[in-house]
Amino acid sequence: MKTLKFNNGDQLDVIGIGTWKSEPGEVKKAVKHALKIGYRHIDCAAIYGNEKEIGEAFKEVFEEGDIKRSDVFITSKLWNNAHRKEDVKPALENTLKDLQLDYLDLYLMHWPVAFKSGLEGFPESDDDFLSLEEVPLKETWEAMVDLKNHNLVKHVGVSNFSQDKLNQLMKDSDVNPEMNQIELHPYLHQTDLVNFCKGNDILVTAYSPLGSQDRTEEMKADNEPTLLDNEVVNAVAEKHEASPAQVLISFHSERDVVTIPKSTNKERIQENFESRNVSLDSDDMKKLSGLDKHYRYVNGKFFETSDGKYSNIFDE
Ligand code: A2P
Repeated sequence: MKTLKFNNGDQLDVIGIGTWKSEPGEVKKAVKHALKIGYRHIDCAAIYGNEKEIGEAFKEVFEEGDIKRSDVFITSKLWNNAHRKEDVKPALENTLKDLQLDYLDLYLMHWPVAFKSGLEGFPESDDDFLSLEEVPLKETWEAMVDLKNHNLVKHVGVSNFSQDKLNQLMKDSDVNPEMNQIELHPYLHQTDLVNFCKGNDILVTAYSPLGSQDRTEEMKADNEPTLLDNEVVNAVAEKHEASPAQVLISFHSERDVVTIPKSTNKERIQENFESRNVSLDSDDMKKLSGLDKHYRYVNGKFFETSDGKYSNIFDE
């Protein structure tokens, strides 16, 4: 499996398993299966509502003894309701308790958006949000960096950050993010942002690599384009005797980008892991480049407020 390196030499596999939308009743089996067949990189988040079940999977697998905690790279994310500096460590401790771990390999600020402390569920009105003047990203970030000093996390990063927000954060703080997890796939290349990250020693993880068709209906736009059915993706897949999903996953490895396809289905978990054996050539990548239309499946509009606190989350 190809790996990418952090500045201190730590490595992570370019293919991990995603757990967004993995139902609590299914995710434990899925994660256990993934670990059994060779995945060593698991992407989680507090807001996914399934960390307890994933924690049971970790406990059982590590107790069996063949796979050690230190063999696996585990990520989680700070939710928007814990951005105040005094809320960051308790939020991480909660995640560690649920995941039954002593430390995370990577902790990400999930969104550059703050809710009122402890807000349960999604905001119902503008009052449920805190502006970035009230809780600057720098405040949240510095509290996250401090978690490294407590040996509770090995690496810290962000998610859904634009180049503007990364620049600002790097200007305001002594410690740069080590990762930016963003939506990427052949309809959304974000080449400038990816190059900016690479140029600043920030690794990149692609979420929604398969188009996240299992999102709720409210999150879906009318007439969304599908990736798995795309003709070009299918033609490249046929050429390599691979599946469309495998092409969509390899697309990221070719760009030196990490990706975290979600599946709770045994065969598809395996199929996605086998993508490591599919190498796309420059002609394939050129064809896939032609599909870029800056299309977002996760458009961030759900965090826009009518009072102007939040608009244009991706700064574009
Ligand atoms: P399932 O969990 O039943 O396998 P994303 O990673 O972009 O969020 O996409 C996840 C969606 O893609 C889920 O609906 C998941 O369904 C589906 N999926 C995962 N792997 C594959 C695959 N190899 N082929 C087709 N669909 C897949």
